[in-house]
Amino acid sequence: MSLQSLLQSRVATALIAAGIDPALAVVTPAADTRFGDYQTNAAMVAAKSLKKNPREVAAAIVAHLQVGDLSEVPQIAGAGFINFKILDAALSDAVNAVRLDDRLGVVPVADPKTILIDFSSPNVAKPMHVGHIRSTILGDSLTGIARQLGHHVITDNHIGDWGTQFGKVIYGWKHFLNREALEKAPIEELVRLYREVNALEESNPAIKETVRGELVKLQQGDEENLSIWNQAVAYSWKEFERLYGLLEITFDERLGESFYNDALGPLVERLLTKGIAELSEGAVCIFFRDIPALEDKPCLIRKGDGGYLYATTDLATLEYRQERWKPDAVWYVTGAPQQLHFHQVFAAAQRLGITSDLRHVAFGSILGEDRKMMKTRSGENVELGGLLHEAMERALSVVVEKNRDLPDAERHEIARIIGLGAVKYADLMQHRLTDYVFSWEKMLSFQGNTAPYLQNAYVRIRSIFRKAAESGVSTEENTIVIQAPAERALALQLLQFGEVLTAVLDDQRPNLLCLYLFELANAFHSFYEACPILKSEGDIRSSRLALAEVTARVLKTGLGLLGISVPERM
Ligand code: ARG
Repeated sequence: MSLQSLLQSRVATALIAAGIDPALAVVTPAADTRFGDYQTNAAMVAAKSLKKNPREVAAAIVAHLQVGDLSEVPQIAGAGFINFKILDAALSDAVNAVRLDDRLGVVPVADPKTILIDFSSPNVAKPMHVGHIRSTILGDSLTGIARQLGHHVITDNHIGDWGTQFGKVIYGWKHFLNREALEKAPIEELVRLYREVNALEESNPAIKETVRGELVKLQQGDEENLSIWNQAVAYSWKEFERLYGLLEITFDERLGESFYNDALGPLVERLLTKGIAELSEGAVCIFFRDIPALEDKPCLIRKGDGGYLYATTDLATLEYRQERWKPDAVWYVTGAPQQLHFHQVFAAAQRLGITSDLRHVAFGSILGEDRKMMKTRSGENVELGGLLHEAMERALSVVVEKNRDLPDAERHEIARIIGLGAVKYADLMQHRLTDYVFSWEKMLSFQGNTAPYLQNAYVRIRSIFRKAAESGVSTEENTIVIQAPAERALALQLLQFGEVLTAVLDDQRPNLLCLYLFELANAFHSFYEACPILKSEGDIRSSRLALAEVTARVLKTGLGLLGISVPERM
């Protein structure tokens, strides 16, 4: 049990003794560390409902508190906060326990949930652009964190492999395909076909019917068109896989939209029979007359011409997921513009009797330096592959500058780790709903809340250990004994790792983990400045080495949960 939960349970016991609801026992790290290390506002909350003076309620609670083994006498501060200053001995014990724990103090949840995370989900024959990068990076880190806490997670890449774009792609394939280009850069070639046909339609509107005819033929199962579609999907996957390989991201399932094609017709019929959906001017809709926000926004599930929609597929997908995995929760990691779509799908799902906790994990846009949606100079969407390569190239020039004597292969590997880490971290450190400005300079800086700064903190610790080994200092079997203020601050920060992961999952916000790691690195730097490690001796040196070692492990594990690696030197 963490020190925080231990205090929490002691507070709960005291609340019961004072005749107060123990659910109010919430302990958090102190906001103002001058008064203590942890605090609870239980007295203030209780005083409100009891209509009593909060400081008096606090005094009554403190009278029942038994925390002598953990903290100095609890102090009442401000409007009724109860503050705890942890004893050096208790703090040492707690941080030693984290050091000896393979899980670094992260306690698995008592009731693991089955969570299906739907993320990345790019579209076939369209480039994976920076909008998909947020989904991919966020989804992957949420997956890692949920698994670390003991949840059962299924990841599903719901790619857009069926849609109206295929009429154009097939027409283009039949008339202007360049095989060589397709082999070399498949998505680029598919996009070229798509654009070529778009332009053709504009100059010659009569062609539109023929292009649409290709789509209808595909939907009716025409052999030639199906084979073209199959190839287009396979070629796109090849390129997606290359990017996922680069990002070191894998999926449990890759069930694209097309997987649900056969389920759409029967689903719509069933919704009609059950009275959940209605015929409306030849189309089929689900109305939400009882939901104010959706009152005038029915969900269209079959068009007048018989075509199905994005929402129809999502409902069929949900039914399939219910049947196969019975998930407690389904998280959809997609951009904020899809809010209405998911609101409708979730409302419809409820009518279908689906009770899973459905969440749209929405996120904002990535902006260019001009604060508009990020585009290339020629006004096109920035393509993810190019972006990642640029990140590695830019990181390489930084690494070369710093390490002229490292072998070439190692410099490239370090540049890969720094470049990809920088892009991922710059995204994850933002509150997911904010739009942020993409800045190479900022994300690759070794100063501030960036991946290179955190990776550098890790590398610094590793170099201390290399130096220790060179001078024959033992680095095994050390025990932490907390004494100096900078040691206290670092130890307290180390103890929060598990709590932070839980907080991340509450609202799907990996930025809380980023902030935590940044503060951990800062606490380590303050400790490093104030407390000599290799220059000290005996037990003090052992203790400080051990403290540094746990810090390195938490940094590495925490960054790992964000999908970011660390180099051993840089
Ligand atoms: N392919 C969609 C897009 O690029 C995202 C799909 C998200 N998942 C879902 N089940 N709707 O916008």
